[in-house]
Amino acid sequence: KRPAGAPDKAIARKVTKVGIVGAGLMASQFALLFVRRLQVPVVITDLDQGRVDKGVAGIRSEIDALLGKGRISPDESNRLKALVTGTTDKADFADCDWVIEAIFEELAAKQDVFAEIEQYVSPEAVLATNTSSLSVEQIGSKLAHPERLVGFHFFNPVAVMPLIEVVNTPSTDEATLSTAMVTAAKLRKNAVITRDTPGFVVNRILAKVLGEAMHAVDTGTPFEVVEQSTKPFGLPMTPFELLELVGLKVGAHVLDTHHSAFPERFFDSQNLHKLADLGHIFERDSKGKIKGV
Ligand code: CAA
Repeated sequence: KRPAGAPDKAIARKVTKVGIVGAGLMASQFALLFVRRLQVPVVITDLDQGRVDKGVAGIRSEIDALLGKGRISPDESNRLKALVTGTTDKADFADCDWVIEAIFEELAAKQDVFAEIEQYVSPEAVLATNTSSLSVEQIGSKLAHPERLVGFHFFNPVAVMPLIEVVNTPSTDEATLSTAMVTAAKLRKNAVITRDTPGFVVNRILAKVLGEAMHAVDTGTPFEVVEQSTKPFGLPMTPFELLELVGLKVGAHVLDTHHSAFPERFFDSQNLHKLADLGHIFERDSKGKIKGV
């Protein structure tokens, strides 16, 4: 069995066109990163044209923001914009040699996405999932070629956070792993290879912190008290700010997954599930400042 250490870079496959499934916030952030760092065409897809158009418009306005900050030239801005397209037809992924998925965290939906994509792409194409805590092996269980599936987990905000977890399943082959590591390096991220285990490394640790913070609330400590108590630790964000950054639905899913896998070690939080439906933990004033904190 191949070692879990550094795979041989020489066997990495070339990435000449990238397909992205999902045009939400996370997907749009890394679409920008792929187009900027790989300088190859990037095509994004989602459930309907409205979502696709919104995703493409979001990426274009981020390119404008980079231009506005003087980080890229007008020529570069035009080139990057021309490289990003949207589609609702997965047949447009036919010539992609790297496809990454970032849809909502539902196992069956992700399984179906990859089974469908596999009908169009070449047998050499690498398939990657940005899942934060589902089993990558299970996501690939409907694939004819599960050896080309790998986890490729970004962190929010994608432009700023330096890490990518490359999730190595028992089926992932060495060429796929190698392509993932080389691609992460081209994106100028630090990649670590992790086991395919709930939460991988980072979310396993975060689930503890976020779960304990929510459990304090669930057992009667007011949000504001937990918020104020966690500020002095020197972390860039409090647990609640972090939950709001990643999205409460994603956060609730992460806790749920960990609690299901290790009920004696992790808390789930009914309050968090309720708040996820509301969309926020704290009420904020018009400047985005948390009221009363
Ligand atoms: N999107 C894009 N860029 C952002 C951003 C955002 N949401 N927020 C901040 N930035 C950029 C700013 O533009 C700025 O870039 P420039 O220097 O190029 O202008 C840079 O980040 C620093 O921003 P600020 O000085 O305004 O803010 P800060 O110093 O307070 O840092 C932070 C902001 C980087 C978000 C910092 O608070 C932080 O590191 N927070 C922790 C984030 C974290 O832990 N993320 C992991 C979450 S877990 C996850 O994502 C995985 C999962 O599966 C759930």
